[in-house]
Order: sequence, then C-alpha cells, then structure tokens
Amino acid sequence: MTFQTSQTPTPKKIPENIPDEYRQAISRLLIDENTLQNRIQEMGRAISRDYAAHNPVFVGVLKGVLFFMADLLRYTTIPLEVDFMAVSNYSQESRDQGVVRITKDLDICIEGRHVVFVEDIIDTGLTLGYLLKMLRSRHPASLEVAALFDRPNRRLVNIQARYVGFHLPDLFVVGYGLDFREQFRNMPFVAVLNPGILNQQRTPPPPSF
Ligand code: PRP
Repeated sequence: MTFQTSQTPTPKKIPENIPDEYRQAISRLLIDENTLQNRIQEMGRAISRDYAAHNPVFVGVLKGVLFFMADLLRYTTIPLEVDFMAVSNYSQESRDQGVVRITKDLDICIEGRHVVFVEDIIDTGLTLGYLLKMLRSRHPASLEVAALFDRPNRRLVNIQARYVGFHLPDLFVVGYGLDFREQFRNMPFVAVLNPGILNQQRTPPPPSF
C-alpha cells in the first residue's frame, strides 16, 4: 500500500535568518521547516514499521537528497545501511531520453537486499526510471522509492513511489536540498523562486586574489 501523500500546506511567512541574497530571490515560502520535519518523521516511522527485521539499504542520489536523507535516517529507528550514487547527464538530449551517466556507483552489493531508494524530487521520472532499471538488474530482494517531493504533472514515465512526502505544484522551488544554479540548497524550508531570477544571466565568479 502506498504511504499517503501530504497535500502542500498553506504558505507562511519567510523566516528572518536567511541571507539577503536568498530573500530577494524568493517570492514566498511554500513549506516551512516544522511541516517538513513532521512529515519526514511520519515517513521514517512508516519505513521503520515496514522494514523492521529487514536491515534495508538506503540508497540516495547526490546532491539534492543530502538533507532529506540525513533527516529521514534519523527518524528511521531500525538497523539499516546507507550508500550513495552520483549521476550526471551526458547531454540534454540524453537526459530527455532518460539516459544518465553514473559518476559514483554503490559500494554495497544489493543482491538479495531490501533497498529503499531515496530521492529528493521526482519530476519527469526519467532519472529515477533509469536508475531503478539498473538497480533491478542487480537482483535486490525488494526495491521501493521514498521521495520527499513529487510533481506528477511533469511525469513522462510511469514511476510510483511507495513513500511520498509532498505533492508540489508546477513551480520552480528551492531549499532543503533543491537548488537553482547550485544555490539555495541550505535553506531549511522550501520556497518559490522569483520567476524573474530564472531569466537572469549567471553572476560572474569573484575575481581571483
Ligand atoms: C534532481 C533530483 C532527481 C532528478 C529528478 O536532480 O535529485 O535526481 O532531478 O528529475 P527527473 O524526475 O526529471 O529525472 P538534479 O539533476 O537537479 O541534481 P541535484 O540532485 O544535484 O540537484
């Protein structure tokens, strides 16, 4: 049975303690820190219940999953193992075809193991679809997905996550691991990016000294 999805909560006030650069770039807060943590705690409880005595392997794909993975693991109160993968795209064309390049593979052998694949966000599902197919070929005992955010409106391939934290609207959101040009990942909440920022040129790197 699929873990019930939480609806996106009512927006609240943007917290004070974020850099001015971030504050100017976001238009509104979408999911505050408490709401995120409460939901992740519920997910951890559900996974702990479902995988008791299974010693699962949690697999995360860098980098966006970093914060979710760390918090989910803290709320998962059973013995488990952790591993990471890293991927990059050969090109936009290969991404569109759902082909990614593995730049860091697993250290743990997952054959016969119960695997929980942890993702920060599922959009088109192309990345996840490719990786799940690859991991299935290694014959795990089971393979399920825990995704903090899901945007089913953007889906191009049929992917069902067993555990989903929040459904997101079709907006560019940042924070809690989600980036825009590698920035904003370290905000402890999720906010909507100001649409004007999307069209701005990249800031040149600071002069060397
Ligand atoms: C994000 C996310 C997923 C993927 C989802 O990674 O972590 O891996 O995009 O998109 P899809 O469903 O359309 O394939 P991203 O490439 O932004 O890298 P990051 O984790 O380093 O931010």
